[in-house]
Parts: sequence; C-alpha cells; structure tokens
Amino acid sequence: MNAQNQTVNNQKDCRVKSDFKIPPELEAQVDEYISRYPQKRSASLMVLHLLQRHFKYISPEALEWAAKKLDLQPINLFELVTFYPMFHRKPVGKFHFRVCRTLSCAIAGSYELRKFLCEQLGLDPNLSGVQTTKDGVFTVEFVECLASCDKAPVVMLNDKLYEKTTPDDLRTLIKKCKTEDER
Ligand code: FES
Repeated sequence: MNAQNQTVNNQKDCRVKSDFKIPPELEAQVDEYISRYPQKRSASLMVLHLLQRHFKYISPEALEWAAKKLDLQPINLFELVTFYPMFHRKPVGKFHFRVCRTLSCAIAGSYELRKFLCEQLGLDPNLSGVQTTKDGVFTVEFVECLASCDKAPVVMLNDKLYEKTTPDDLRTLIKKCKTEDER
C-alpha cells in the first residue's frame, strides 16, 4: 500500500459518525458529574466511566462527544482511554473476566486459571489479547496487578474481585453468569 492510500485509510479509521446520540438521562448524569468539579476536565474519568458503563466501550464517537462536553480535544481523552486498562475501545462481553498475570498471581496459578476459563468458554487459550465469545456474552482478558497480591490468584468479574480463585470458583461463576444471561 502506498503512503497516499495509507493516509486515506487512516483518515477513514479516524472518522466518527456525526449522528451519535446518547440517551437524555445519561447526558443529564454526565452534566451532573461535570457540575461537581470547579473545572470541567476534572470530571474526565468519571464521564468516561459513565459512557463505558452504558455502551460497554468507548467508541470514537463517544470520545468526541465527551471531549465536547468537557471543553477538551479528543486527544486529551484518547490519552486517558489508552493509558488506563479499565477502558475498552472495542465492545466487551456482558461478563468480563480479568485475570491478573503479575508475579504473585502468576506464581499462584493465574496462567492455568486463564487457560481453564478459555477452555470452559470455547476460547483459544493460545491466543493472546482480549477474547470475547462469539455470542458476545463473555470476555476474558489478562491484566496487570489487581492490587490484592497477598490473596493470589486474583480474578475480577465485571466490578467484583475474587481472591484465592480456584478452577471450581470459576466454574461456579460461569454457571451463575449463564443463568443470569438466560433470565
Ligand atoms: S499480582 Fe495479582 S493482584 Fe497483585
């Protein structure tokens, strides 16, 4: 691909849909969060969390929308979204497993736990990176330290932390998630 085509493709990647809208109640919540701070930009992380909770990820459209709200350039928020691993730039599953791979957890068996999770969910344990099941229900991700090293191995399911996790614990969690998903 020549340089000109590459530039055109990059421009296409950066293009955002102009018809992006968010529900009025979510916008009201964003406004309320912003009003808590003396400077709008101080609400950046809170606003990004709100948008991610609603959309399950931060799309280029959401990022641009938030930047306007906060009187910032999109790059200012892009830096946050790419720095903090809790933000996603692609949709993740309804149930998101984060397995800690840092030293204490690795020694305590987190690599085996991730492999077990992938196998239980029909994902490929040999692939690196974030994986989501075809039905979009489960995501498995390896992450760095979850700050509970003395209780390794540690796994997070959505916002909840599970310490000293065993394969049996994961089996039980998967079962609960599937039951909840069928409701
Ligand atoms: S090393 Fe896993 S929680 Fe710190």
